[in-house]
Amino acid sequence: MQKIAVLTSGGDAPGMNAAIRAVARTGIYYRMEVYGIERGFSGLSSGSPMKKFSLGAVAGIIHRGGTILHTARAPDFKDRALQEKAVRCLRDAGIEGVVVIGGGGSFHGAQALQELGMKTVGIPATIDNDIPGTGSAIGFDTAVNTILDAINRLRDTATSHERIFIVEVMGRESGFIALAAGIAGGAEAIIVPEIKPDLDEICRRLLQGIARKKTHSLIIAAEGAASAYEVGKVVHERTGLETRVTVLGHIQRGGSPSAVDRLLGSRMGAVAVELLRRDCSGVMTALKDGDIVPVPLLNAITGKRKLSRDLYEMSKVLAL
Ligand code: F6P
Repeated sequence: MQKIAVLTSGGDAPGMNAAIRAVARTGIYYRMEVYGIERGFSGLSSGSPMKKFSLGAVAGIIHRGGTILHTARAPDFKDRALQEKAVRCLRDAGIEGVVVIGGGGSFHGAQALQELGMKTVGIPATIDNDIPGTGSAIGFDTAVNTILDAINRLRDTATSHERIFIVEVMGRESGFIALAAGIAGGAEAIIVPEIKPDLDEICRRLLQGIARKKTHSLIIAAEGAASAYEVGKVVHERTGLETRVTVLGHIQRGGSPSAVDRLLGSRMGAVAVELLRRDCSGVMTALKDGDIVPVPLLNAITGKRKLSRDLYEMSKVLAL
């Protein structure tokens, strides 16, 4: 394979730049030409010119959040005609293989390219960490650390004012971010979409805490489970306690990637190129038992990543 291209798609995730850098440098190491496609599938299907990477073009980016290639949500890319146009654009540019860095939605696009004959490898990157088949996706670790930083700050003010804070975190329809940040942040309650919340039980526990002279508490609510404002209202009505709400929003997506995400991005980027060289495509790079291995893209887009019920139950015990 002589010419490959890389794009980032969907929500950005810290560590995407490390993956782009690894794809570019590994490809150039093997004397390939490596091209960057800007604005994901939208840029690809609108025929935007691709940029050829030099070694220097990806210097000084490993520590930067976001993606130097820009990204876009491309709901239209479900359209077969657009997918065919994208493959035509790639072929016209002489591209023989593509690396798609993104989340579940992006992998539908990646699978479409593969089905239309363009060799494609996916790299899982989403702060939601909801892609089945991989131990982790790029961006999750940084996002959880960003939330922890916010939680630490909120605890200071919550302690001072003796209040209950409800912090809403991202995650779409999944609770991976909420559960990880809740456990690591010592939250008193965690609300995730996968498990129906029992607000009465949460209120009871908050009141038990007050009885034990616990002066503040923190509830983490996943955006897909409940609105933090609603939770705050209900908790106030049922307990009489003073509540405050913080919706962290897109702050969770930004920032310099953690060492874990830089390493994961670097390893997955390098392996993606190795896979294309070995003519292994229609797969994503997955973290399994500490190794980066290929897993069919189809598995990643048809299954659902399961939240650990055991971990959730453990979080309740630790929050007693
Ligand atoms: O998938 C990543 C994510 O940050 C989700 O957690 C969130 O629901 C969504 O993207 C927000 O999307 P947008 O940036 O398009 O508003």
